[in-house]
Parts: sequence; structure tokens; C-alpha cells
Amino acid sequence: MKNIFDSSVYQARRAKLKEAISTGVAVFLGNQELPMNYASNTFPFRQDSSFLYFFGHSIPGLAAIIDFEEGKEILFGDNFEIDDIIWMGHQPTITELAKEVGISESRPFNALNNYLKGRTIHYLFPYQAENQILLSDILGLPLSQLRSLVSPVLTKAIVELRSIKETKEIEQIENACEIGVKMHLAIMQSCKSGISEKYLAGMAEGISLSYGNGVSFPIILSQHGETLHNHKHNAVLKSGNLLLMDAGAENLYHYASDYTRTIPVNGVFETRHRELYEIVLRANTEAIAASKPGILYRDIHLLAAEIIAEGLKELGLIKGNCKEAVAHGAHALFFPHGLGHQLGLDVHDMENLGENFVGYDETISRSTQFGLSSLRMARELKPGFVITVEPGIYFIPELIDIWKQEKKLEEFINYEKVEEYKDAGGIRIEDDILITENGCRILGPSLPKTVSDITEIVNG
Ligand code: GLY
Ligand code: MN
Repeated sequence: MKNIFDSSVYQARRAKLKEAISTGVAVFLGNQELPMNYASNTFPFRQDSSFLYFFGHSIPGLAAIIDFEEGKEILFGDNFEIDDIIWMGHQPTITELAKEVGISESRPFNALNNYLKGRTIHYLFPYQAENQILLSDILGLPLSQLRSLVSPVLTKAIVELRSIKETKEIEQIENACEIGVKMHLAIMQSCKSGISEKYLAGMAEGISLSYGNGVSFPIILSQHGETLHNHKHNAVLKSGNLLLMDAGAENLYHYASDYTRTIPVNGVFETRHRELYEIVLRANTEAIAASKPGILYRDIHLLAAEIIAEGLKELGLIKGNCKEAVAHGAHALFFPHGLGHQLGLDVHDMENLGENFVGYDETISRSTQFGLSSLRMARELKPGFVITVEPGIYFIPELIDIWKQEKKLEEFINYEKVEEYKDAGGIRIEDDILITENGCRILGPSLPKTVSDITEIVNG
């Protein structure tokens, strides 16, 4: 079964791009198959997401152009020879592939160079080294200049299109969410002391592969949730610990989900963990409740930060006025990352186009303050945006030591009390939401997140 939309979907997307740009020619390089340990033993292939968006095919060795001046669309690639067919079976021709996505013209791959000669070219930065070399050859530019000549016009036009998810795309993201929920439920049901993190991570990844294309990013599963992107799964689960899993699936149409849940290994939250958990949960649910069109996502992030600061003040870790504490960035000792990011064909959707193009615009620029500077998505929310909401509280011993030594923001932080929590680990709760006309809705089936629901499921 081919997991691509009807050709009209791709035609409509390309038509919209043509409305936005009138000069030059855009070149889209599909991704290459990359060697893992020798040339013919490759990493699983992942197509470039903008290529998928406009040209549908998840096949290596393709490129395409949209010529804004001539109105042409051409797919470039090579037909399989009998030597390939012997190993890989019958393959469609480039002409057939082009037709499937509504393109009437196809040419051999090496004709791309000629087509682009002497033209004004729009391109996106190729993050694969192979495509950097290819583009550098085509353009006659040194590799070192490729980044500076990326087309902001093309980048902005694509971000505008891809940020507003079509109904078809939302259905696919919901499907990725269904798989993500299955992954998390399985871990909640299997989590017990004595079992290894590796086993659980493998189980979650297996589910993502059984129903979709695998994980949407390498699984984060750890009893050291305070390490934000902890990809080490080498410990054995121990009663009294929390287990944080941040994991999602890529579905068969290449759309992503991204969930985080933090659960007690033995099914019971210790008092200290429960108190912290309730604060993060409040930040998650109130941030979701406040998300709607017309509001800056930076303000939702700051709302979550304030809820976290207020909760930590009740526990005695933060002191003074919480709004002021947040304005000075004191909360970032405990919540050093951003509230969320766009989600779509990429788990951090369009991150390769540049985070500042995706999450910021002319009206809002990135803060340089520690914590807020990590916010990937800050701009005004619009109906059709899909974003993650993922507040957290973390006790990072090394960071605490540095801040304490510098007496940083000590008017807002009770370092003596923080010492008592240094081994409390990390808690994050993440959901995926769609911004609707009037507010938002959580995508996917429900996944336990209250203390009582988590306790019930982990205890079987
Ligand atoms: N889920 C991983 C991240 O958002 O960075
Ligand atoms: Mn995320």
C-alpha cells in the first residue's frame, strides 16, 4: 500500500506556493540513503519533510523543481535498471511517480544541473552532507556559503503553508497520536521494579514500528528525567524512582506524535514527587486551557512558568513575587526549556528551516534570557497550528551548584531548600494540541495523566 494522498493534495499545495512566489525556481532535494557501516547497509530511509509535503514520495534519489516564472513542475530521478530490479523487485518509473503526485514532466536526475543553469534559485538548507555537496556542485558555490544563500522567501512561504495543518494532516497526526498512546500505555502497564529501562524502551519502539514507521525521535526513557534528552536506557527500574518517558511515533504517512509522561516505578507517588507532579500537571492543563488563536505562545509559556513558580513557592523553593521571579528568569533553574514546539511531518516541525522562522516572526524575537531563550515556539497562535504543551520541573545538580555559587537570583530562590530536592529528578508532562477557531483541543485518545489515573494503571 502506498501511503500518499491524492495527487490533488500536492497540486493544491504547490499552487499555493506559486501564489506566494513569482520569480526564480525552487529546487527541492529529496533525501539520500545514508550508509550505516558500509555503503549498502543503510540507516532507515527518511524523506525530507518539505519534499514529502509538496511531492509525496518517500523514495531516495529524487529531486524536484517548481519554476515560478515558467509555471513548470518537474520531478527528477532515474528509472531502475534490471540490476536494481533483481534485488528490489519491480519499481515504478519516474514518469509514473510524477503522475501520482500530479506532475506531468519528469527528467533524469542529472538533468537537474542543466535546468538550473543561469536561473535565480530558491533552496532550503540541505542538512544532509550528501545534498550539501550536490547543491554546492550544482550552484558552483563553496560549501561554506550554502547556508548564507538559503532563500528566506521560500522558507517563509513554506513555514506559512506547513504551519496551518489541513484536515487530512490532522487525521494523520491523530493516527500518530493513537500509536504514541499505545506506546505509553504499554510502558505504564509494564513498569515495575527490576525491569530494565532498555527493555521498556525496546517495547515502546517495537509498538511504533508495528503500527507506523517507528519512533518520531529517539526514545527518551529514564529514571533521570532531569536530563532533558536522556537517550541512555542502561539502568534497572527501582522502587521509589520516577520514570520519565518522552516518546512518539511517526505514522505511515510520516506524521509525528510526541508525548511525555512521568510515572512512579512502584505505582505510588512519594509525597515529594506527588507535590511536584501536581504542579507540573497544573501547568500542563492550564496552559492547554489558555491556548487559543490570537495569543502569543510565549505568553502561554510564561503562564506555565508562573504556575510552576507559584507551586514551588508553596513548597518553599521560590520566594518573593512569582511574576517578578518569572520576569527575572528564576523559574528557569527548575524549568530551563520551552513549553513546546510545532508538530507535523517533523516532531519539531520544520526545525530544519530555522527555529526563528518557525516559532518567531517580525513581531516577536527570541529572548536571550536563560530558559526563555530555549523557547522554540513563541509567536501568535492561529487556527490549524498543532503544538506540544510540555512543562516540566527538574533538579539538575550541576546547574543548582553553579547558580548557588553565583548566588544567582537569590532574592527569588531559597537555595537551602533546593538542596533538599537535589535528588528529586525530573518530571515532564506533554500533550499535543490543535488550535481551533475558538480555543484548542487535545489530539489523540486520552492518555492518563492525573495522579489517580496513573496510579491505577501502573498498579494494573
Ligand atoms: N520530545 C522531545 C522534544 O520535544 O524535544
Ligand atoms: Mn516535544
